[in-house]
Amino acid sequence: MANTSGEKHAFQAEVSKLLGLMANSLYRDKEIFLRELISNASDACDKLRYSAITQPDLLGDDAALAVTITPDSDKSVLVVADNGIGMNRQELIDNLGTIARSGTEAFVKQMADSQAGDGQDAQSGRDGEDEQNGATAGLIGQFGVGFYSSFMVAKRVDVVTRRADEAEGWRWRSDGSGSFSIAPEADAARGTRIELHLRKADREFLEPLRIRTVVKAYSDHVGLPIWLENESGQKEMVNEGSALWSRPRSEIDEDQYREFYHHIAHMPGDPWHTIHLHAEGRIEYTALLFVPDTKPFDLFDPIRKHRVRLYVRRVFITDECEGLIPPYLRFMRGVVDSSDLALNVSRETLQNDPILAKIRTGLVKRVFSELEKRAKKTPEDYASFWESFGAVLKEGLYEDAEQKDRLLPLIRFRSTGGGERWLSLDDYVDAMPEQQEAIYYMSGEDPDALRRSPQIEGFRARGIDVLLMVDPVDQFWLPVVGSYKEKPFRSVTQGGADLEKFAVSDEAKADEADATPPGEMDKLIALVKLTLADAVKDVRTSERLTDSPVCLVADEGDLDMHLERLLRQHKHELPEQKRVLEINPSHDLTRALARMVGQKGASEALEDAAHLLMDQALILEGEPLPDPSAFSRRLSGLVSRALTE
Ligand SMILES: Nc1ncnc2c1ncn2[C@@H]1O[C@H](COP(=O)(O)OP(=O)(O)OP(=O)(O)O)[C@@H](O)[C@H]1O
Ligand SMILES: [Mg+2]
Repeated sequence: MANTSGEKHAFQAEVSKLLGLMANSLYRDKEIFLRELISNASDACDKLRYSAITQPDLLGDDAALAVTITPDSDKSVLVVADNGIGMNRQELIDNLGTIARSGTEAFVKQMADSQAGDGQDAQSGRDGEDEQNGATAGLIGQFGVGFYSSFMVAKRVDVVTRRADEAEGWRWRSDGSGSFSIAPEADAARGTRIELHLRKADREFLEPLRIRTVVKAYSDHVGLPIWLENESGQKEMVNEGSALWSRPRSEIDEDQYREFYHHIAHMPGDPWHTIHLHAEGRIEYTALLFVPDTKPFDLFDPIRKHRVRLYVRRVFITDECEGLIPPYLRFMRGVVDSSDLALNVSRETLQNDPILAKIRTGLVKRVFSELEKRAKKTPEDYASFWESFGAVLKEGLYEDAEQKDRLLPLIRFRSTGGGERWLSLDDYVDAMPEQQEAIYYMSGEDPDALRRSPQIEGFRARGIDVLLMVDPVDQFWLPVVGSYKEKPFRSVTQGGADLEKFAVSDEAKADEADATPPGEMDKLIALVKLTLADAVKDVRTSERLTDSPVCLVADEGDLDMHLERLLRQHKHELPEQKRVLEINPSHDLTRALARMVGQKGASEALEDAAHLLMDQALILEGEPLPDPSAFSRRLSGLVSRALTE
């Protein structure tokens, strides 16, 4: 009989919230609680199998690791038991009282929001419910809240457990309302028994047929037997019982791959791409890898950990094997099972193992070739992959010099002229006018803002496309990569534009025809330079402007302006970077100013104008003005002079 007078513990606040949401959830696919419990049981058996490599005694005379499901209709209790590693008292408190996983807080909030939304829709009928079910299902899938999903079907849960290397057993008990109790349990078997006291409405999960169907649907791939035990103690195995990846491809259908993906990846949706390969020859391994169709929430965690599990001959070794998958492919999910690594390989030295390096090389090659195929065959699909993971893949350009040439053709860009189209470097280079020697790009954050920048006007007028670099990572790989097919990358906001060799379209030409005589413009430039003095590095006429009067650029060899802004945002100490102010000699404003130079009494107005030109250029860059009140005073002065003249 259960000891009911255990010591009481409060759940961590997030867990309480989560349990409240679970208990009241209208969620239709409640059956996934079984998948979660089986997944935990299977993990527990994996852990024991791993420990037993060095401590075979742990298995004792109970070496057939398995999950057993036993329904008891009289008591309305469903038991899910395993003979895996088990938990001691402290582990019970830590694992079943808190949520350690990062991002859980965000999850609880999203789940609360999605259910609050449902509350409002409740009156309006089924639609709201469907939507909420979809959202919650996705969230549960993504965050893998595992054990706590028991409370979707149970009004009380008991966990009886004993750790494989300890003699004492424990009983954890909770009704899911704020606290749980823990008491010693005599004669607890090794492993963990989850006893679910089902709610009346959820008694369907006692029916063998229902259980069989759920196990088949969600857990068929689990690599150990799942037994269904009836009231008279007879057992039948209800799953395939062998690890999915170890079966031949021809025997696996889409649904099974998808279910395995949900299990291993904790991702909603379908895999965008599935790679199931068996390598033979000098090294032998099997890999079942997936590219998700959505972005995982922790994709940009600074730790950049991948999520591919390593097995050695079906024995789970670790899901933290650095070096198995490079960080720039960390969006991949799945398993790798090696036949060559030693079973007792130490997790610590694993990452320097030459076999592991060979596996990695093989996997990276294969992933690239699959991506190449998809990019060629279904460019629209590839674009959706790119939008999710492109920024991650680009990290490989500077991290993995060996793969650079293989990676570059996989990279995609938006451009000033390309609208929503994603261009490859080959698309860009093939479309370049003959005289064009460089691959022009502009860096920034927002493609639309970049397309409106003054610096690209001259390029647009000459029909030259400019690639838009809007990911912070672009600033890292550009200097490392330098060129593609012998065409150097060149920022359009840096150095001279060298545009004289390109023909200007007729429209733009009309403007240039009545340009100011060069002498007058030179005088204006000299005056602006004198007035602005130390505020700029240089002042010169511009080839890149057609519509705007001025713009700022970085001098050749200086930091790109966008990179400088990024570095300052991240609190890097930088020496002051002076920019070059470029003036459009064909603009009405600058032409009028040029004519004023040397006129009597015009010098004060010209000095104001010089400052205003500089301020305008700063505003166009989205940068703060050094002296806003002076700007306001000068602008008001200029406008009122114009109005009263
Ligand atoms: N049957 C079990 N045997 C041993 N430990 C278990 C068992 N079930 C749960 N646990 C422990 O409780 C923890 C929490 O389980 P839970 O399912 O909530 O999360 P998880 O399994 O860690 O993550 P996820 O389910 O998202 O993969 C597990 O990490 C494990 O340490
Ligand atoms: Mg789990």
